[in-house]
Amino acid sequence: MGKIVILTGAGISAESGLGTFRDEGGLWAQHRIEDVATPEGFARNPALVHRFYNARRVQAAGADANAAHRALARLQREWPDDVILVTQNVDSLHEAGGARDVIHMHGTLAGALCSTCQHRWVSEPEMTPADTCPACGQRSVRPDVVWFGEMPYFMDEIYDHLANAQIFAAIGTSGQVYPAAAFVHEATAADAETVELNLEPSEGVSYFDRKILGPATQTVPLWVDELLNRARRQN
Ligand code: APR
Repeated sequence: MGKIVILTGAGISAESGLGTFRDEGGLWAQHRIEDVATPEGFARNPALVHRFYNARRVQAAGADANAAHRALARLQREWPDDVILVTQNVDSLHEAGGARDVIHMHGTLAGALCSTCQHRWVSEPEMTPADTCPACGQRSVRPDVVWFGEMPYFMDEIYDHLANAQIFAAIGTSGQVYPAAAFVHEATAADAETVELNLEPSEGVSYFDRKILGPATQTVPLWVDELLNRARRQN
């Protein structure tokens, strides 16, 4: 049956009440990326950036996994081969929905990082510029999320999975941010079957063999059923 590699974006958490970035009224309509999602913005005004992530931490803490998150966890449990879940999202709703070993390529809201000694720990709900690193004591604490201009995490591992994928799916992502937007090309080069599940066609829709349009809570459970029926037929 082969390995399935899935990339998710903000759209999979939209129906859990978490805002996406580029939809009407999304996060980038409310905040300037350069102020809240770049190292330069953090250096310029750490209090503003901490407030931005504190608010997202509070919102994420109040959100529940939805049927799409749960369906992907079911696929991980019942598919006869590996199902690798790579997310651009910094929320923990995939884990709340039962998924395992989720690869957070843009980091997580739950993580704190010391810019001085690179120590990582589970962050307090509220972070401020006055926080000090529990390891080195320096006042250089930041959210452990990947900002624009920084290298996403786990890229070698992700490319290795893509090179061995039989099926690649992109779910709830606009396909506008690299390197994630180019994963479909890696999967195609590995002769994987590629599918996009999105509310509307993404920037990269033409690169996919198939597109399934609609809200993730409807399309993802049906897609998972289809895959598991295929596996049962072939067993
Ligand atoms: N079901 C499925 N797809 C949805 C839904 C839904 N209910 N609601 C919105 N979408 C789709 C939108 O059509 C859009 O294509 O989800 C996508 C969200 O796109 P973005 O807001 O650009 O989010 P994402 O693709 O995850 O952004 C990638 O950009 O700003 C950075 O680091 C940030 O991880 C983020 C990255």
